[in-house]
Amino acid sequence: MTSGRKLMLLVERISGIVLPERELQRLTNWALDRAAARGFKDLNAYVDALRRDPDSDEWRILLSRVTVKESSLFRAPQQFRCLSESIIPELVASGRKSIQVWSAGCARGEEPATVAIVLAECLAGTDVQWSVLGTDVDADALEGARQARFSRRAVRRVPPEHLDRDFTIGGGIYELISGIRRHIEFGSINLVREPLEVPGQPFDVIFLRNVLIYFRKESQARVVRNIEQLLAPDGFLFIGPSESLMHLTPVLQAEERQGVFVYRRREGQEGGAGTGLKDDKTSEFEERDRISKAPPRTETDDEPDPVAADPGALAFEGQRAERKHDFRTALRCYRASLYLQPDLYQVRYRLGRCLEAVGWSGRAGAEFRAVLEILERGSGETLEIFDGPDFPGRDAIEVECREAIRSGSRKNNPQD
Ligand SMILES: C[S@@+](CC[C@H](N)C(=O)[O-])C[C@H]1O[C@@H](n2cnc3c(N)ncnc32)[C@H](O)[C@@H]1O
Repeated sequence: MTSGRKLMLLVERISGIVLPERELQRLTNWALDRAAARGFKDLNAYVDALRRDPDSDEWRILLSRVTVKESSLFRAPQQFRCLSESIIPELVASGRKSIQVWSAGCARGEEPATVAIVLAECLAGTDVQWSVLGTDVDADALEGARQARFSRRAVRRVPPEHLDRDFTIGGGIYELISGIRRHIEFGSINLVREPLEVPGQPFDVIFLRNVLIYFRKESQARVVRNIEQLLAPDGFLFIGPSESLMHLTPVLQAEERQGVFVYRRREGQEGGAGTGLKDDKTSEFEERDRISKAPPRTETDDEPDPVAADPGALAFEGQRAERKHDFRTALRCYRASLYLQPDLYQVRYRLGRCLEAVGWSGRAGAEFRAVLEILERGSGETLEIFDGPDFPGRDAIEVECREAIRSGSRKNNPQD
């Protein structure tokens, strides 16, 4: 096995993060540079040093390189509406004198800042104390988070009244005011490391959004098992709107509130499989199960999981299924493909079209918006199978996405 692949597997062992196959070459090149800069005789020696000391400074640099910190304030705003209109009032009504929220995998602080803005508003004029803990495995991201300074892009979803009231603006940077900032603390926590000990537990609300998607199913289950221990008995767990805990925990169950799913402890059923979890998100998430059902890779495995290795083949399967109007399979394949290579804008566009076809126009809109973001960033990647007279080109996709968003918002179906 090459040293680059050993490094990729070591990253998974330490952080849970499964890097897509296409990252192998880039990671190898990067690691070769690091090994040379640090005076190691070769890549193997560099990887060995990392293996020997999972707490070294080099890991800090490596984790910053391999983690995806895509986030923004008020990402998935419907979840924050649910927090402010349903969950916080319920926690206050329960007689609580203090509320603790944990944002696990908080990137550069966008999520804890949003939670703090919402809590500050909801709890103003009450005597309820509150705090928000933001944690991440990436120490560099946390350093940024502590500054509470955000780009224009990061705040693009912040409602204008909050932007005016809760930020100071200078040089195109939006800084959260200290009155809100002082409620937020940050800490470095690797969610896959056991035992998982988090100061301030139990939490009334935990946000674990868009973190598990990078893990294999075994790691997902382990993390969820550890996290559910840290949730107050009547607490709430948010995961990303396109994620599911299906088959991951018999302890938590999905509950729909204001059109979004939150997870809560299932009463009297602590542990034990086969409890018939209610999770209406089933059909949307089978593809993730399929990817993560692959056995965990070990550093002695020579071949990567063939499914996980080929986003193009998955997109091809998706396209075949779509042509046969088998949208369920198409959705599964497109999502699996995008899991591996999120910036395949043609695949994302097709995913949006399939979601529309099955009546999920709100989710379709989110995909179309994501396509526009990818194109705007200039990070879009193309697949040959979508090049040809039968397919719209880049510009046509952009126009079609804009039009689909416009007509979708007229239908006003934000969450499906
Ligand atoms: C895509 S961001 C999600 C940010 C935010 N939760 C949101 O939904 O906008 C994923 C974050 O998970 C963090 N992460 C990945 N593996 C982790 C681990 N093992 N422990 C803690 N955080 C991890 C990454 O560093 C990154 O900041």
